[in-house]
Amino acid sequence: MAILVTGGAGYIGSHTVLALKLRGDQVVILDNLCNASREVINRIEKLAGGGKVVFVEGDIRNRACLRDLFSSNDISAVIHFAALKAVGESTRIPLVYYDNNVTGTVVLLEEMNRSGVYNFIFSSSATVYGANAPVPYVETTPICAPSSPYGTSKMMVEFVMREFAFAEPKFKAIALRYFNPVGANESGEMGEDPVGIPNNLLPCIAQVAIGRLPYLRVFGNDYPTVDGTCQRDYIHVVDLAEGHLKALDYLSKVKGYKVYNLGGGKCYSVLEMIKAFEIASGKYIPYKIKPRRNGDLATFWADTRLAEKDLDWRVSRGITEMMRDTWNWYLKNPNGFR
Ligand code: NAD
Ligand code: UD1
Repeated sequence: MAILVTGGAGYIGSHTVLALKLRGDQVVILDNLCNASREVINRIEKLAGGGKVVFVEGDIRNRACLRDLFSSNDISAVIHFAALKAVGESTRIPLVYYDNNVTGTVVLLEEMNRSGVYNFIFSSSATVYGANAPVPYVETTPICAPSSPYGTSKMMVEFVMREFAFAEPKFKAIALRYFNPVGANESGEMGEDPVGIPNNLLPCIAQVAIGRLPYLRVFGNDYPTVDGTCQRDYIHVVDLAEGHLKALDYLSKVKGYKVYNLGGGKCYSVLEMIKAFEIASGKYIPYKIKPRRNGDLATFWADTRLAEKDLDWRVSRGITEMMRDTWNWYLKNPNGFR
């Protein structure tokens, strides 16, 4: 039996595939490489000790590809990472995002149903809580108004999963709401390789450190937080990957549809992140205070008690490891996988 990992060549998917391989699971990756490099497959194989990774280059919206994949592999469960994820871009081309992220997931679920595969883990996001949820975010808070088409696409897929679980008792599904994934494999061989100019904080800090950006723009220092800059709940990508293995193991106990926050349960400000990166890297990070970024929230972090209780999962890597591993990845791979 094998686990199908869609988007398994991407940032979080590749770390999850490696974690699966390291514990001996069979894996099939489906990825159209729209935001990933084939080189990732070589790195996973190397880090996993040499065993081949089955890689299918294809799109989750391509039924023929999915049918072929399900009929030629014995798939027991699907971990579904494949999606477009750039928030700003999603506001410019929302239909592309809904087609890829929502229609793509519906096609995938239809083909799973057709093939009798009913175990499903989905990459959701803390963005589904919207702007008005009380902090820390708790899974029981109703979700209704994410601030971008990207966020809405995640919310819509959660609704699709919930409705399908009502209709099909065999369907067991978990949506994992990630907080802010950062970090890289400890070896420095695998990490986040954003295409073009990054938007997220840590890739931007790292680009300043390697001299590709002259300074970091800090978006706003007048928020009601410890130092006026926004606070986020950062989670090491390897802890996040391990959360998927725990969720997969828990699926057999799930009746229908469940949701879990995967976060560290505490938050750091932008200035605290800069300081921590400077300590880890020994590099000075110049920054300039800029106006607030549209759509940013002052502060949020995860209530992680449900994942701790049900999944027996908690983070074991802190800000020191997040910064050390990010810096190691950028030092060894200043051009990413290229
Ligand atoms: P990523 O872009 O690195 O990985 C996504 C992968 O999916 C890429 O390899 C891409 O080539 C592939 N893909 C996209 N559309 C596809 C399609 N139609 N068919 C086949 N493959 C396709 O992103 P990531 O950071 O690893 O994120 C993984 C998942 O987690 C996404 O669903 C994302 O929305 C979600 N998520 C990410 C974050 C984050 O900050 N990175 C936060 C919350 C949720
Ligand atoms: C962003 C997305 C969110 C997505 C998440 C993870 C927006 C509004 N939100 O969240 O939907 O789930 O990424 O992919 O885009 N910052 C700077 N300077 C920079 C970059 C960031 O000051 O150059 C600040 C931001 O203002 C924010 C914090 O750093 O306060 C974290 O930013 P980022 O990494 O983009 O994550 P989120 O804003 O939480």
